[in-house]
Amino acid sequence: MNVLVVKDYEAMSRKGADIISALLTLNGKAVLGLATGSTPVGMYKELVKRNKEGVISFKDVTTVNLDEYYPISPENNQSYRYFMNQNLFNDIDIDKTRTHVLNGLSSDPDKECKDYEDMIESLGGIDLQVLGIGRNGHIGFNEPGDFLYPMTHKTSLTESTIEANSRFFASIDDVPRYSLTMGIGTILNARKIIVLASGKDKKEAVKKMLSNTIDTKCPATLLSLHKDVTVIVTEDCI
Ligand code: GLP
Repeated sequence: MNVLVVKDYEAMSRKGADIISALLTLNGKAVLGLATGSTPVGMYKELVKRNKEGVISFKDVTTVNLDEYYPISPENNQSYRYFMNQNLFNDIDIDKTRTHVLNGLSSDPDKECKDYEDMIESLGGIDLQVLGIGRNGHIGFNEPGDFLYPMTHKTSLTESTIEANSRFFASIDDVPRYSLTMGIGTILNARKIIVLASGKDKKEAVKKMLSNTIDTKCPATLLSLHKDVTVIVTEDCI
């Protein structure tokens, strides 16, 4: 893994935006795999700024998001669809019909997941996948466990993630207990991956991710199987 250590959150955000900007300059029709959480917010702000300045365009870009809570309405202000609209899609020149987020209200989640995989394949795969990392080493909603799922699937959230994500909800009881998420294989199939991590509470997870071992109890370690991963970390996180 290629590790870039940067000073702070702003520098991490700019570096992530630099990598995406470079890709969009080379390939205006790129398929971007996007992530939610607080970590990529600064990078999305930077991308919005560059789009407004005319430096990059999303006109012909397609996006696929990593995951979504289940069940949740796309109109719920804690849904990842809502998050993406608010933090990126509403403010850039993207065609919203080309932005894909798993449907948190699907009555047939297994079919929803299978269709999502087929859709990614029909797009020709993901050119660049953006990832954050959970405090417990989860990526997307692939939580630590005895085994991991290769493809997009419905899964339960761990107590640690429910607790970590409860800061965004009115109360911990409002956090959905399930999610739909790309699997480890879906993520590893992306042609390029960038992982963003900042802050002391990610230090342990980042250390394990970079330990050059594979452990399903820290799903991010599976990224070492990929040939083109760039990890952008702040100084206090490593
Ligand atoms: C969430 C998301 C992940 C995200 C992670 C870290 O549960 N499913 O995709 O990377 O947690 O979030 P944050 O960036 O807010 O720390």
